[in-house]
Amino acid sequence: MDHLLFELPKPIIFAHRGASAYAPENTLASFELAVKQGAPAIELDVKLTSDGEIVVIHDPTTERTCGVRGTIKTMPLSQIKELDAGSHFDSAFKGEKIPALQEVFDSVRGKILINVEITNYTTPLDDLPKRVAELVKKNDLQHWVFFSSFNFIALRRIKKLLPEVPIGFLTEEGNRGKFARSCFFEWLNYQAIHPHYHDVNSWMVQHHHHKNRLINVYTVNQKEEFKKLNQLKVDGIFTDDPILAQQILNE
Ligand code: G3P
Ligand code: MG
Repeated sequence: MDHLLFELPKPIIFAHRGASAYAPENTLASFELAVKQGAPAIELDVKLTSDGEIVVIHDPTTERTCGVRGTIKTMPLSQIKELDAGSHFDSAFKGEKIPALQEVFDSVRGKILINVEITNYTTPLDDLPKRVAELVKKNDLQHWVFFSSFNFIALRRIKKLLPEVPIGFLTEEGNRGKFARSCFFEWLNYQAIHPHYHDVNSWMVQHHHHKNRLINVYTVNQKEEFKKLNQLKVDGIFTDDPILAQQILNE
């Protein structure tokens, strides 16, 4: 498969929710900083608003990152745009907004690989996969974007719409992710597995490489873990701190 995901040097450092150790997660500030810091890839979380727009936010609600109560799926984009998604991190980022996915595309296109996590976990059958596929197509970003999700139905749907774009299957940590990590999901035809770093071992890496899949591991912020995963020859590492990751891997 011809795609940027397979062309970048390994392990690929994914700035998780942007450079989220240095700027508020899932904001233009954190994505632009990841580009400045030289990260080869970013990860971001998308959801649908009540009026069908795609916004970038991790939680289904606004309380943690915006300090006010609200549920994304019941709010129109105009209301979401009134919120301050920066101050919770640092007053220097006051006024930073929850971005629409289109704004992220406009700001980083052509500069970095974009892993779009389809996070319709509270509305697993909504139109998010279709809407994201349409937007990627409209922006002609099939080479620069790939998808991931814990929701295999969403992955299946988006893969049908954009077969040339790889999908990464996210698996939950420990026992909760055991079934997802089993051979039952061979039918999903995923090009990468995204396990929690606690679940990764040498056998697992070899198994997925043998199946011609990448193994991208979330979310690592400690020195020793970067080293261990690098030795295990994983293909990608999600981290809040791309600077630290690159420093350790260059040692
Ligand atoms: O995609 C890796 C990671 O982001 C998955 O977990 O909860 O941080 O979206 P979460
Ligand atoms: Mg995520």
